[in-house]
Amino acid sequence: MDKITSVQKMKVWQWICAILAFIALSAIIIISVVAFRSLDDVYFDLPTLFSAATLIFVLFLVNFIVLRVYGKGDAVSTIFVFSVLLVSVIIAVVCLHFDYVYAMPIVFLPLLLGMTFHKKSALATHFTMIQIVVVCMLLFSYHSAEIRLSDLSLHMMILVVDAASGVLMITVLKPYASRLRILITTAVIVLISGLIGFISAAALGGDPDILQMITVGVSVMIGGAISIFGYFCLAPLFERVFNLNTGLRLAELCSFDQPLLKELEEKAPGTFNHSLTVANIAERAAYAIGEDPGLAKAAALYHDIGKIENPEFFTENQIDGYNPHDELIPEVSVKMITRHTEAGGKILSEKGFPKEIISAALEHHGDSPVGYFYNKAQKITEGTLEEKGYTYTGPKPQTKINAIIMIADICEAATRSVRPSTHEELATLVDSLVRSKMNEKQFDECPLTMAEITAVKAAVVNTLMGVHHERISYNLDKKK
Ligand SMILES: [Fe+2]
Ligand SMILES: [Fe+2]
Repeated sequence: MDKITSVQKMKVWQWICAILAFIALSAIIIISVVAFRSLDDVYFDLPTLFSAATLIFVLFLVNFIVLRVYGKGDAVSTIFVFSVLLVSVIIAVVCLHFDYVYAMPIVFLPLLLGMTFHKKSALATHFTMIQIVVVCMLLFSYHSAEIRLSDLSLHMMILVVDAASGVLMITVLKPYASRLRILITTAVIVLISGLIGFISAAALGGDPDILQMITVGVSVMIGGAISIFGYFCLAPLFERVFNLNTGLRLAELCSFDQPLLKELEEKAPGTFNHSLTVANIAERAAYAIGEDPGLAKAAALYHDIGKIENPEFFTENQIDGYNPHDELIPEVSVKMITRHTEAGGKILSEKGFPKEIISAALEHHGDSPVGYFYNKAQKITEGTLEEKGYTYTGPKPQTKINAIIMIADICEAATRSVRPSTHEELATLVDSLVRSKMNEKQFDECPLTMAEITAVKAAVVNTLMGVHHERISYNLDKKK
């Protein structure tokens, strides 16, 4: 419902910009077809071109609405998707002109978008591309003396095979799959599609001969291989330019060679170790509920990065027993503690981190109260003290991964302090901590279900079972 509202909430100028952009994109595609066909001395009449352009425009517009509803919907993602779509169609038009119809690298787009975007957005864009390529293919057969009906049927059949391969790649591959897994899976899909191309040539190719069948089958495989090669070469570039989260980028961010992680280890070793454990828990919990474990791990590693600004104010870094809060009034202490969320968000955005990782730094405490300092202030205040000045600034977790990091964060910290000795004690502790966050309504703005919370708790308990670290004790109601 919220996502539908995001389409309704679009401003008039945004619609005008989108419509103008799609008119331009449709025109570019039609002009490229007309230019190539004019080289073959084939000229179109205006009504045909106008109908084709209108159809392509409508396909773009529908795809745009689907992206707004199911995808990320922001300007950068939209520009990225439509740029890839336009380039893919132009490459298909070039292949149509040079008669490399069977070797069109159609599966590049579904592979790239499937690994970086919401599956529904990737599927919708893939089908938009296929439909536009069909329109272009029909324009290429327009007034063409040499094209035979059997050729056109085979062209369409190969396009169906490519469409099915793309759908398979989007649905089978997980965003966090390793390079080897991507390579093996895509190679198997391309081999199967080549085989189907070979059989299709026999069934639809008019008077098929073995050479034509092999040519079609091999061409389909070459198109697939170019798509896979293109993905591995261009994905890192797209990741940088459009700030995308592919498995490769996330693995890079999790590397201990990252300057920011090195700085965290150096300035706040306690926080660094805490972040490592939270990352392990978050990775396992994300896997348990079908979220991206790579993103959860990366976001958890950087969730407390803001603490590098004043590491000594956090218990996990007070190794020499000195506690600066002893010299401060609770009102100041709480500000020194809570500022690490916004500081983290600022550091990560300045370094160009993906926005999902920035949001985890900002949201992992939600708007929870800092109970320890509130209680301390209450003791020295006459009358009732308002809780308002003693809470984190929020926002509450907006995604399942950020909610997981919130749970992993409090459970890791509390386990170090309470040191439960049995599985039951640990499970009870985790249950009570999650319940306290639910009572604070911290999960009210993210789509985490009760069943998923149960799965996350089990993953947290299992990961923490083997973790035992020394840590200064603090009351359970004290939030870091
Ligand atoms: Fe934190
Ligand atoms: Fe933390």
